[in-house]
Amino acid sequence: MQIQWRDEMAIDHGLIDNDHKYLISIMNEFCETDPTDGSPDRLVNILSKLNAYTTIHFRREEALQRSVHYSYIDAHHHEHGDLLRALYSIHRGLFSLDASPVEDEAEDPAAPSGGPDPATPAGRVVRAHRKVAEFLHHWLIDHIIKSDLRMKPYARDMLPMARGMKPLKQMSAWVDD
Ligand SMILES: [Fe+2]
Repeated sequence: MQIQWRDEMAIDHGLIDNDHKYLISIMNEFCETDPTDGSPDRLVNILSKLNAYTTIHFRREEALQRSVHYSYIDAHHHEHGDLLRALYSIHRGLFSLDASPVEDEAEDPAAPSGGPDPATPAGRVVRAHRKVAEFLHHWLIDHIIKSDLRMKPYARDMLPMARGMKPLKQMSAWVDD
């Protein structure tokens, strides 16, 4: 299922919203990737891209906040750190999938029936893909709704600085595609 952008997530009808939409498009790329080829490499690369572009986005969102002396800047900075650490941990788990022990699939009631045997490499990738996709459905969206929306009253004052920034998708980030 796709992660949907919704109007109530709008903050500035400009740079910040477009950054968020681009990050959601990368998350959807992950969710829509077929995991059944038995290798986590493509999924790991999409998370590398998500990590790189999220880092750029958080850095410039905080620069915009500094430009308007945003009241919640310290708390917001810490939340960004927590989000990046959570993503890093998921990313590392996927990267080391081949070396991790096989868990008992019977303990996972959400596991769909059918599909490849969970003890095989293909089965493990399918299972990890589903779990990471579930994680991504909440990861950034919850932050946008609970925290980023507080920036809305400052959006107008952020505009002069935001105008000098390139769209996120035009930025070059190191990605091992
Ligand atoms: Fe944020």
